[in-house]
Amino acid sequence: MKEIEIKSVLQVFESFDELSDDVKMLMEASMKIRDKAYAPYSEFLVGAALLLENGEVVVGNNQENACYPSGLCAERTAIYYAGANFPDVPILRMALTAKSLKYQLVTPTPPCGACRQAIAEYELKQEKPIEIFFMGETGKVVKSSSLSNLLPLIFDNSYL
Ligand code: THU
Repeated sequence: MKEIEIKSVLQVFESFDELSDDVKMLMEASMKIRDKAYAPYSEFLVGAALLLENGEVVVGNNQENACYPSGLCAERTAIYYAGANFPDVPILRMALTAKSLKYQLVTPTPPCGACRQAIAEYELKQEKPIEIFFMGETGKVVKSSSLSNLLPLIFDNSYL
């Protein structure tokens, strides 16, 4: 038996104000779409904004359903739109923000496991990293320079 160590390196910005102007713009797009989320059950609103290599910005938010599992997270709403409409255009960066209508969310809110798997699919397909910036409603912003930092031991098509 031997142990292996898996290390992820992330960057933490103290606040939105510390971001570069282009990342701020993407985060603002994510905040704007977040506030249009359809989340009557959780009252937890999530926004995702993707910057594509052609300059296009694709946004999405969470869409809930009375049959809970039929809903979809913001990240997948956005990335599937990008995959459907711009199948050959690489995704460079993703900005995520979440807000609760029940309390002040200041903790940077990362994509859930299912969304990490979905984002990984596109990162592997395009053979280029996708930068991910995530935050709560306010407070610190975390940057991962690739989805792979957030999902070690990924299940990918090499197993199929
Ligand atoms: N949600 C997202 O949109 N993205 C995530 O990565 C985590 C969770 C949504 C799903 C559901 O509508 C609400 O947040 C509460 O889980």
